Amino acid sequence: MGTKERKGEHITAVLKKDVEYEKSAGFENVRLLHNALPEIDYSKVEIKTKFLGKEVVPLMITAITGGFAGAVEINKQLAETAEKYMLPLGLGSMRAMIEGTEEESYLVKQYCPSVPLIGNIGIAQLASYPVERIEGLVSKAELDAMAVHLNPLQEVLQPEGDKNFKDALKKVEALCEGLSVPVIAKETGAGINKDVALKLKETGVEWIDVAGAGGTSWSKVEYERGGTPPGFEEWGIPTVNSILMCKGVLPLIGSGGVRSGIDAVKAIVLGADIAGAARPFLLAYDYKALDSMASEWVEQMKIAAFLTGCKSYAELKKLKYAL
Ligand SMILES: Cc1cc2nc3c(=O)[nH]c(=O)nc-3n(C[C@H](O)[C@H](O)[C@H](O)COP(=O)(O)O)c2cc1C
Repeated sequence: MGTKERKGEHITAVLKKDVEYEKSAGFENVRLLHNALPEIDYSKVEIKTKFLGKEVVPLMITAITGGFAGAVEINKQLAETAEKYMLPLGLGSMRAMIEGTEEESYLVKQYCPSVPLIGNIGIAQLASYPVERIEGLVSKAELDAMAVHLNPLQEVLQPEGDKNFKDALKKVEALCEGLSVPVIAKETGAGINKDVALKLKETGVEWIDVAGAGGTSWSKVEYERGGTPPGFEEWGIPTVNSILMCKGVLPLIGSGGVRSGIDAVKAIVLGADIAGAARPFLLAYDYKALDSMASEWVEQMKIAAFLTGCKSYAELKKLKYAL
């Protein structure tokens, strides 16, 4: 099956099937410390921070799609929403663009010039393409960073999956050396443990997106497409645990099962530098509710800051929580 068809099938499975983990990411176990006396003016709460040199709301739309005709409109609308609400935007895997097809869906910088735009490439593709080809994506799509996705769970269950992860670290290292923009290493929903984070740090990776378990289950997506063997539906490190394990190693994007602006603030208070989500934005696109969803999540983030007595991002980062 070609990249285009697979991308289309992924979108259909994620929209139409039950592909969320049953086990949670752990956010319901985290209590932010309510402050009955905030002593701040809610209208003055400012949660923006710097990410990749730009001032943003610390909530990233993480990699969703690209590389087939249906992705053009999805990425355009995601980019417009990102620009309006100052959210960093991740593109889906750019394999199709490397292969010289379906470029249009990735060329969205014009719709989101003020926020960081992050490219995406699979660790498996690093073996097939020289760094110069990947640098070509950076300049053509005007990317602020390149995310490399580590998705062994998905690849190993996928009938056509690339199961050879040998020398993966060396390839990441070569990418970090050769690319003109920072490299972000990301999982796709099964989480990153501390040893992996430490190894990634050695390669020159500048950010880690833990993309932990508890949200979209990529094993369930692959089972919908005929993947085998069963049994890995709930596999992975819950996002809350992954953030707690990896914090302090590198700056973190806390994602995987973030399902509200309140979860996003919890991810940040736990130790992530920004939060992120993927499937909720795709569902909102499908329901024609992207604008209202983004507006609601950003408002939830501000209210959570207010109710914990924080008027700035810096104060949020120092906030205590109970587990
Ligand atoms: C439809 C869809 C397609 C995705 N495609 C990619 C991809 O191409 N590259 C990637 O790194 N992650 C991809 N992801 C994974 C997400 O970026 C994210 O890490 C994962 O879904 C967990 O976040 P969530 O629980 O908020 O969905 C995709 C997610 C969705 C929902």
